[in-house]
This record gives sequence, C-alpha cells and structure tokens, in this order.
Amino acid sequence: MGEVKILAIESSCDETAAAVVADGRNVLSNIIYSQIDLHTLYGGVVPEIASRKHIEKINPVIEAALRESGYSLKDMDAIAVTYGPGLVGPLLVGVAEAKAIAFAADIPLIGVHHIHGHICANYIEHPELEPPFLSLVVSGGHTHLVMVKDHGVYEVLGRTRDDAAGEAFDKVARAIGLGYPGGPKIDEASKKGDSTAIEFPKAKVGGSDYDFSFSGLKSAVLNYINHAEMKGEDVNRYDLAASFQKAVVDVLTEHAVMAIRQFDAKDFALAGGVASNTALRAGMASACEREGVRFYCPSPVYCTDNAAMVGVAAYHEYLKGRFADYTLNAVPNLAM
Ligand code: KG4
Ligand code: ZN
Repeated sequence: MGEVKILAIESSCDETAAAVVADGRNVLSNIIYSQIDLHTLYGGVVPEIASRKHIEKINPVIEAALRESGYSLKDMDAIAVTYGPGLVGPLLVGVAEAKAIAFAADIPLIGVHHIHGHICANYIEHPELEPPFLSLVVSGGHTHLVMVKDHGVYEVLGRTRDDAAGEAFDKVARAIGLGYPGGPKIDEASKKGDSTAIEFPKAKVGGSDYDFSFSGLKSAVLNYINHAEMKGEDVNRYDLAASFQKAVVDVLTEHAVMAIRQFDAKDFALAGGVASNTALRAGMASACEREGVRFYCPSPVYCTDNAAMVGVAAYHEYLKGRFADYTLNAVPNLAM
C-alpha cells in the first residue's frame, strides 16, 4: 500500500477547518478559519450564525488545504469528516460537504468521532506513541478520562456530570469580565495572580471515582464575587482567576493520577482545547514525572479544534476498512 492521503473536515463548533494528512501522522496542511471574533460579540457561540459562516467558509478552507498540501482532490484516498458530537447545524455543513466530495471524487467516506479526533492529535507530533495509553480529554463540551486500548478502541473511565472543564473556564471568565473565549483569558490572567489566594471547594461526586463535576466550583466562584460586591469589596480578578484555575487543574490531575495508578499506565496523553492551558500542562507533566509515566500533549494548535486530528483518527478507520455510506448524518450527542 502506498502513502494514504486523507482530506479531513472539521466543523462541529465554531472552527471551519480542513487538512490533508498522510499515513495518519504526517500533516501536509492544516487550515483553520476561526469564527471566534464573530461570536465574541455575543459572549459565546451562536449556533445559527456558526452554521451560516461554515457554509461561507468551507469551500475556500478545503481549497486552501489541498493547495497547501501540494496535492489535488484526485490524489486523495479518502475524505473524512467529524459527524458528532457537536452543534447539529455546523456538523451538517461538514457532513454534507464531505458526502458531496466523496461522491464527486469517487473516494471512500469516513465519519469521525470528535473526541477520538482530539485524542488522536497526540499521534501527530509523537511518532513513538502507541496504544494502550490513558488520555484526559478536556474541551469546551467534554471532560473525559479515557483508556485507549487500541487504535479505535476506547473505554471511558469517567466523565463530567455537569459542566465541561472548558465551559467552567468560559463561564468564570464571563463572570469576572474577561470576555470570550474564557479559557485563554483565564490562563493569561492567572499568570498575574496568586493561586493560593482563595480556596475553592473541590467537587465531590458520587458514583464512578473518575467522574468530574464543575458546576459547584463555578457556583462557588460566583458566590465569592457576589459576597465581595455586597460588602463593597474589590475582587482581585487575577487572584480569582489563578485560584479557580488551580482548583480545576488539581481535580483533573488527581483523577488522572488515580487512574494511572489503578491501571498501571505507562503513557498519558492530554487532549482537547483546555489541554493548551499552561497550568494544566505543567501540572500534568510533573504529576506524570512523579508517577514515572511518559507525558504527551499536542501543540496548542492541535489541542483546540482542527481537522488534522480528524485526518489522523480517520486513517485508523481506513486501515480497518470502516467506511461510511451516503446515509452518514450529523449526530449532535454521539456517544463515545
Ligand atoms: O476543543 P475545543 O477547541 O472545542 C471543543 O471541542 O469544545 O475547546 C474549546 C475550549 C473552550 O472552552 C476554551 O475556553 C478552552 O477550550 N480553552 C482553554 C484554553 N484554550 C482554550 N481553556 C483553558 N486554558 C486555555 N489556554
Ligand atoms: Zn473539540
């Protein structure tokens, strides 16, 4: 088999993205059109506006991805697309586009699970990484602790019961007036603050040891702000951001370490938009070092939504012959 080249599309939220990936690791192009500026006006992603922007941008983004890869559509061995989970309108734009291209170019179609994509982003810059390994996926919509047993074989150990980690970042950022998207803003603000200034409660949840909950922490932050306002006191936004961020990082790290020990993991891979958080990367890296576990994390550009990760995940589906047909549809709450 020669080199397998896959054209991949990602449009599940507010990034319109296309990439060409060879043999599941080699990214030949990775084009991302971010709609962030558009949604900042509204303080969050507006699904209908996102859908319309995807329609406008998807063709130019795909053309740019092909151009930059140095190949044309006829050189592609397959077309891959995220079909869930995500926002239904945005997902449909990508899925319809991919089906049309698969039909026109007469190449196989591959449907990719967005979270599998995030995990697979780790393969791009770490050629030595192979399953089995433990992965923590933290994004705007998801917080999953996952055992990657083999390529395409995942076991979810724990997940959030309420808000996702990124969602908590976004909501707290809004509450302290840092704007959208909150994650990067809190990350920056924390650098000027004292993470031990305020002690926020650590969320406890019943059921699985590995499940997460962030809504209590979010409420604690909001209560703290309200109390301060009622007493006419100023809130130090930097200390608050740093203390909140520390609470999130501590909980994520503790759960990960618990799983590392229980499953005797040798490799640990961080993934998802929140994986670009400086404190989380540093905290997880040193926890892994203490546990004698190899730590992996994608570069920030492969942490937040992109299509290269979709092309990587699709390669393993391609090798297994797991193709979709033209009935492929968007599945907003696609299970893991
Ligand atoms: O993976 P992603 O791009 O989209 C989803 O699949 O949800 O993740 C976006 C999330 C947002 O909530 C954003 O605030 C968060 O990732 N994020 C961060 C950072 N950069 C992005 N959170 C904390 N620190 C960051 N540096
Ligand atoms: Zn994502």
